[in-house]
Formats: sequence, structure tokens, C-alpha cells
Amino acid sequence: MEKIMVEKSPPLRGNVRVSGAKNSALPILAASLLGTEDIILEDVPRLKDVEVICEVLTSLGAKVEFLDRETIKINSSNIKNYETPYELMSKMRASFLVMGPLLTRIGKTKTSLPGGCAIGTRPIDLHLKGFRALGAEIDVDHGNIGAYADKLVGDRIYLDFPSVGATENIMMAATMAEGETIIDNAAMEPEIVDLANFLNKLGADIKGAGTSSIRIKGVEKLGGTTHSIIPDRIEAGTFMVAAAITKGDVVVENTISSHIKPVIAKLREVGCEIYENGDKIRVIGPDNLKATDIKTLPYPGFPTDMQAQFMALMSVCNGTSVVIETVFENRFMHVDELKRMGADIKIDGKSAIIQGVDELAGAPVKATDLRAGAALVLAGLVANGVTEIENIYHIDRGYSNIEEKFRNLGAIIYRK
Ligand code: UD1
Repeated sequence: MEKIMVEKSPPLRGNVRVSGAKNSALPILAASLLGTEDIILEDVPRLKDVEVICEVLTSLGAKVEFLDRETIKINSSNIKNYETPYELMSKMRASFLVMGPLLTRIGKTKTSLPGGCAIGTRPIDLHLKGFRALGAEIDVDHGNIGAYADKLVGDRIYLDFPSVGATENIMMAATMAEGETIIDNAAMEPEIVDLANFLNKLGADIKGAGTSSIRIKGVEKLGGTTHSIIPDRIEAGTFMVAAAITKGDVVVENTISSHIKPVIAKLREVGCEIYENGDKIRVIGPDNLKATDIKTLPYPGFPTDMQAQFMALMSVCNGTSVVIETVFENRFMHVDELKRMGADIKIDGKSAIIQGVDELAGAPVKATDLRAGAALVLAGLVANGVTEIENIYHIDRGYSNIEEKFRNLGAIIYRK
């Protein structure tokens, strides 16, 4: 099994360009099942998760072709299947996002329960609540879920929690439902807006994406378009934390700073100097990293996908930091790994209390999920000796060319 090795590195310096957003690319690729003409997607990050969803699309009958490294052409005019194979579904939770498009396009969809990062129980009740409200019959047996509808009819759907995936799945299902659908307490993430923009370009009629109330008027048919995926705000945030933790000076390119306001605010609290200039953000790490507190929340709050990386940073800040995780119930698996490196962290329910230490020490550690893996890379950059990270398939699910990007900034990182 391949490992990523990280050695104590000098302060990172230079420029790094972030890729397109994984969490935009996946739902947009799933939504490509809705179009009956050619779709061209640009700035698609080259990731394991993207490969998996492309395999899902192919298995359903879509034609998927890489025009170059980050441009994909999809033609879904001939969707033949409605069942997503178990082996693909079990690899990635986001495969579940094909259910909404299939339901509205061909009236039936069947899949096994989704896999992905093991961060909490991650139910799908809200997705199913939405499908039912639109008139689908849901059939759950032996770990399989089917949804069937001769015709979908718009309705008003209140989400008990602003789930990103449920908002996306219901929005996609509603594009061709009869009449109007309103999703209340919808998720407001930038990736939802990107998906809605894409769907509108295909011919959908969606208003209000980015607010808590999304209105979708059903249309007969969706066509084709060319669309560029928005930049990955979590990858951007990860490199910003890398600048902070190594006390470096890094310019992160291809960013939308309004998408990462909480990350910028918290890095300023830690003592970083941050300059925004167009699509570039320059982060200069301070000599004295100050402790801070974070509470994860749905957008526009502090992103849960940046929590682990901040915890790595807090491990070496001066003073005591507190992290409260409110989005997922089991997202502290990186704590034991950071402790193996000498971090002083205590967990109390949804809270983690981090007492900053002077030094971390390299150790063999495991990436327990995608962002936990990123946190270990960050910790490894400042830990004495070598940090040997196992289970790096998690990291490859969400970071494109991670070693190369870090190496270009002066980090000592390689695969073995
Ligand atoms: C998406 C992101 C993931 C991010 C998360 C929260 C993608 C591909 N993944 O995941 O990186 O960490 O948003 O920002 O975009 N929930 C329910 N019932 C449901 C659905 C969700 O209770 O039907 C709960 C989950 O258990 C979790 C919370 O809602 O506690 C948030 O989940 P959700 O927003 O749905 O996350 P994902 O779409 O899976």
C-alpha cells in the first residue's frame, strides 16, 4: 500500500493554483444525466471521486470522454440503465446523487445504500423525504433503495437540516417535475449555486439558489451546455492553513474569497496577514500563532470540511483552542492520529479542547477520512522527523496532485 511521507519542511513559499471544486463537480456530473445534448465540463478536478462518478454515468449508459486532463464531454441522450452497481456505490457516497436525475428523467432509480467517508451515520432520510413529496414511491430492502414515479409533481419541501446532498438531489429531481417545487431551509453552499447555474444553462428554471428557499419550476426537457466548475474552497483553505502552520508566505490562486470568509477570519485571529487581490489570496503566517475557537456550521458558517485542518494548526498554536463540530456527529477521528504526533487534545462530546504544544513529532499515522488526511499532511510539515501517512486513498479522493502542489511550495513530501 502506498504511503505519503512528509518531512519537517521550511516555511512554504510561492504560488499554488487550486483545482475545481470536488463538491461541485460531483453533483454537476450527476446532473449531466438530465441533458439530452452534449455537455462539456471544464476545470473538473482529476480525482478518484470524479473517476468513480464517471464510471457510474457510463454504467447507466452515458458517454463520458476526457477531452483533456480537466475537461469532460458527456452525452446522456441514451440512458439505458437505472440501477447503480453496488461496487461503485460503496466507494463513494456522492454516487447517491444520480437518484434525483434518474427519477425525473426516466421515472425509476435503484441503488444500494451509499458509502464514502465514515464520518457519522450520514442518513439519507431527507433525500427520500423530498422524493416522496414529489410523488415517488420509495422501496427499501436488503440495503437497496429504489425510487419510482410515473410522474413527479412539484411540492413545498422543508428540510429539517440544510443538507447539501438532499438539497442537490431534490433540486435535480424537481427540474422536470410538473409545476413548482419550493425547498425551504435549503443548503446555501456555493456548490448549490454552481449546480443551479449549470442546470439553468441546460434549460431548467431555478431561482433562489444560495438562499434558504429555492424555487424550481418544472420544464419538459433539458439540453446541453458548456460549464466551468467553481474553484475548490476547501483546497484553497487547506493551502492557506499550510502557509499559517509553516509560518510561510503563500499566494493561493483561483479562489473566490467570498466563499471562504470564515477561514480568512479565523486565520486572521490566529495572527496571519491576509491580502486579497482578484482571485488570489496571499497568506503570511505569523511567528507567534495564537489560539482560537471554531464552531462548524452549514454555509456561510465555518465549514466542517476545514475542521480537521484547523485542528492540526491549533495543535501548535500558543494557548487553548476549542472546536465544536455541529454538522457531523463523528468527525473527530483525526484526533487520535494527531495525538500520536504529540498533540494535546481532549474530546468532550461535540467539543475538542486543544492545548497548543511547542513541537509535534513525526509518526506512522492513518488518514481516517479525506480531510483528516489533509490535516495529517499539515501536521507533518511542522513535525520533527518523518510522518508516514497510510490509507492515502482518502486523500486522493479529494486532492488533485497534492504532493506536487506542496513540493512546489518547498514542502518535503513524497510517496513511498
Ligand atoms: C456534503 C459534502 C461534504 C461536506 C458536507 C457538509 C459533497 C459531495 N460532500 O456532504 O464534503 O462535509 O456536505 O458540508 O458535496 N443528514 C441527515 N439526513 C439526510 C442527509 C444528511 O440527517 O438525508 C445529516 C448528515 O448526517 C450530516 C448533516 O446532515 O450530519 C450534513 O450532511 P449533508 O449536508 O447532507 O452532507 P453531504 O451532502 O453528505
